[in-house]
Amino acid sequence: MSGPMTLPQGRPPEQPLPQQALRDFDDTAYEQGPSRHLEHLVEGGCVLRFPHMPFVLREGEARFLDPRWSNGNAKNISLRGSGELRGAQGEAADLQALRALIERFALQSAQLVDRLFPQYRGKLRPGNASLRPFEVETRNRSWRQDDTRLHVDAFPSNPMRGVRLLRVFTNVHPGARARQWRVGEAFGDFALRFAPRLRPPLPGSARLLRLLRVTKAVRTPYDHAMLQLHDLAKADLDYQRDAPQAAVDFAPGSTWVVFSDQVLHAVMGGQHMMEQTFYLHPDDQLVPSTAPLRVLERLLGHELGVPARHP
Ligand code: SIN
Ligand code: FE
Repeated sequence: MSGPMTLPQGRPPEQPLPQQALRDFDDTAYEQGPSRHLEHLVEGGCVLRFPHMPFVLREGEARFLDPRWSNGNAKNISLRGSGELRGAQGEAADLQALRALIERFALQSAQLVDRLFPQYRGKLRPGNASLRPFEVETRNRSWRQDDTRLHVDAFPSNPMRGVRLLRVFTNVHPGARARQWRVGEAFGDFALRFAPRLRPPLPGSARLLRLLRVTKAVRTPYDHAMLQLHDLAKADLDYQRDAPQAAVDFAPGSTWVVFSDQVLHAVMGGQHMMEQTFYLHPDDQLVPSTAPLRVLERLLGHELGVPARHP
């Protein structure tokens, strides 16, 4: 069931990626198929790929595969957990249809993770769902926001406090364009490499950032460490070029699931993707010791804050 992984152009990686970094499954529908019990794989940092599992658009929905529905302020059109549609522009009837499309993706994604991860039943909390209509290659971003560089997901304004980020992605490109990713080394190896450069937060800084509403919650030492790891990796061009990595393509009609706070990833090309985020408390994992929070705590030799039930 393992899928092939081709190496990116340029210098070869120092070491090959472990075989279990990508697994393919032959399911064809989000809501139908076997109960998979893939918790151990996804917690082990594996990208779960379903090459023949499209999110099926209904009649009249293909028109939404166009950046013109974006209001230009946000990089995505997103449906918040609260039900609010953000980042879109258009007539009320169109926005209603656009919302229905994203809602259906959110619903089907919930059915999918329920089937893949029975252990997480009742424990995953849905976050935002989004439609991402922009072409990756022509996005112009600062180095910190540049997702063509290998990184783990960590957000400056949205502290996770150790809570896991499980994401369902699907390529809805109407033609043949693959979503092209690079996938990097195991989280433990990555953390070990950059740990000597991690600095503790300045005393009082987390509370100050919260007070100034820079952050939506008080950052814990975990958030501080994860943001540094995110930035250290993106800023290090030698790491970007030489670190162990493999190119992974996601063709239109494919869906993939990954813990994006754990798997080093970068997007090199593509257009039109949907994404649904789920949160999971690390204690609700099958093997909680694999959580980035626990990996970092073992590596640094001290606790990094208590994960909130809800981020
Ligand atoms: C990300 O880096 O989290 C986004 C990946 C993508 O746009 O395909
Ligand atoms: Fe990312």
